[in-house]
Amino acid sequence: MNSGALKTFLAQNEVQKLVQSLAHQINEDYKQVSTDENPLVIAITLKGALFFGADLIRELTIPVYVETIRVASYGASTQSSGKINLVKDLETDIKDKNILILDEIADTGRTLKFLTELFAAKSAKSVKVCALLSKPSRREVEVKLDYCGREVDDFFLVGYGLDFNEKYRQLKDISILFNA
Ligand code: IMP
Ligand code: MG
Repeated sequence: MNSGALKTFLAQNEVQKLVQSLAHQINEDYKQVSTDENPLVIAITLKGALFFGADLIRELTIPVYVETIRVASYGASTQSSGKINLVKDLETDIKDKNILILDEIADTGRTLKFLTELFAAKSAKSVKVCALLSKPSRREVEVKLDYCGREVDDFFLVGYGLDFNEKYRQLKDISILFNA
């Protein structure tokens, strides 16, 4: 799989440590508010956060309700088009619910800004954001990351859900892709 162009950035065990640390914080923060009657609604952003979501959610001990959403901002390149399209909405009413958005990486911030505003407009009780990774130097719009696994420099990363033209998602490590 063009492995010559990849350099490991976070090995599988390092990724899992970040996930566990995020889960620990979320378990603590929501333990008083998340009940069987009012579970925390987790919105996994497809497709990139699929693997992150699967791992993080299995570390949570609070009651959760799993949802998925899909937005598209990237075309067939490493640059965001800047325009966000809602491809797949939530399937449940989130009015008066606590919702936590999971994204694998915050880049320009446009996706997470779009989603937080969308969920606030649907009258969610609270909307928080959890990103495994963040590239602060790339931010174009302001977005609050309530939980962030790690800040990274402006590299194009692949693996653990992160893709380049749909490739590399299934890699267990997160790697830097050179010459994309
Ligand atoms: P934003 O809207 O620019 O913040 O983009 C967020 C989305 O772009 C992420 O959820 C990823 O799907 C994608 N993305 C941003 N940076 C990378 C990267 O380094 N590799 C792969 N996908 C990325
Ligand atoms: Mg994404």
